[in-house]
Amino acid sequence: MAALDLNLPVRDLVNEYGSPLWIYSSETIRERVELLRQFDVIRYAQKANSNVHILKLMRELGAVVDAVSAGEIERSLAAGFDARSDPPGVVFTADVMDKETLALVLRHGISVNVGSLHMLEYLGANAPGHSVWIRINPGFGHGHSNKTNTGGPHSKHGIWHADVASAIALIRKYGLRLEGLHMHIGSGVDYAHLAQVCGALVEVAKRVDCDFHAISAGGGLSVPCRRGDAGVDAAHYFQLWNDARYEVERHLGHAVRLEIEPGRFLVAEAGLLVASVHAIKQTPEHRFVLVDAGFNDLVRPSMYGSYHEISVLPADGSDAAVSRSVGTFAVAGPLCEAGDVFTQDSRGMIEDRDFPEPLVGDLLVFHDVGAYGASMSSNYNSRPLAAEVLCEGTKCRLIRRRQTIDDLLSLENC
Ligand code: LLP
Repeated sequence: MAALDLNLPVRDLVNEYGSPLWIYSSETIRERVELLRQFDVIRYAQKANSNVHILKLMRELGAVVDAVSAGEIERSLAAGFDARSDPPGVVFTADVMDKETLALVLRHGISVNVGSLHMLEYLGANAPGHSVWIRINPGFGHGHSNKTNTGGPHSKHGIWHADVASAIALIRKYGLRLEGLHMHIGSGVDYAHLAQVCGALVEVAKRVDCDFHAISAGGGLSVPCRRGDAGVDAAHYFQLWNDARYEVERHLGHAVRLEIEPGRFLVAEAGLLVASVHAIKQTPEHRFVLVDAGFNDLVRPSMYGSYHEISVLPADGSDAAVSRSVGTFAVAGPLCEAGDVFTQDSRGMIEDRDFPEPLVGDLLVFHDVGAYGASMSSNYNSRPLAAEVLCEGTKCRLIRRRQTIDDLLSLENC
């Protein structure tokens, strides 16, 4: 687990920027990008972490981006991506599209990865000749929770595999240009299942009576969340998709670009959330450590029962593993809501953890939160968004200031 060894100056940064605080390591992001270099295109799914400085780093590393909203398109442009570059710097993926987003897509020449027949009809009628991908739901999926499974009959995402012929008919009707086929079936890796997904994409490619130039493997590459868990074998992952690409190339009779669209894999292990311990209280069942971060900051444990490693940084600068005895704790936040607990399973049952005894004033560090951490934060209980810091070695800089209550109130000045 790389995040435990990030070696970031956590205490100094909290002294400077306050708590709670997100801290990211650019080296870890760079290392993860390197692991996927075999793919022709690494298209970062920015929903995982869309801070514009992270996007700029991705651009420097040669990645391009996927955007799923007008806001994410604007972020991509602010980070310097060009939708008209080769390969396109931005692709817009969605199942629906509003007027404002259509205008943005047209103004910047952004290819659209279409997830429903209605959206294809809407785009075709308003922008005949536009460049499109089709996102296909192969009829099965995979997820670390039902909420992250994006394939199969229970998923709202993508064009159902049996409707591909209707999609092609719409593409012809409006003279849309088919750039590629896309399949993202969810998060988490199981190679046997992945082989099935690759097979499904090849099968669809063979019955698409229309030329195209790219395929996208989507995202979903998992990260090890507990010490000792195995990470993704990027070479194995590539090999399965590369074989699929060759089959599609043989069928089409020309070269096909192979894209991958990871979010979590590139940034999860690069991020920490640091919180301060404000109280410790005992009930007959649990010893609660109460910190100043809540599910308004990190919602994954409350939403999916996600596990994040937690470590203790004593206020006196000592090493917790040496200076403290180990106890059993539940970790919770400041929100006025019972579910504001970081140590819970997917049914909401509290799961106590063993770690060195924290004291009021210590810092707790939540690991592997660079993906779907800050990007899923909210202002619940009128709590401002926490600051974000990006480190290159021990050189760190603020990449988002802490939101203020005045920022929140100013939206309501009307
Ligand atoms: N491409 C598409 C079309 C997607 O819908 C997603 C994720 C990705 C790529 C990137 O998936 P990744 O490589 O990050 O697994 N909030 C949840 C994850 C939701 C993912 C939604 N779509 C979480 O915290 O686990």
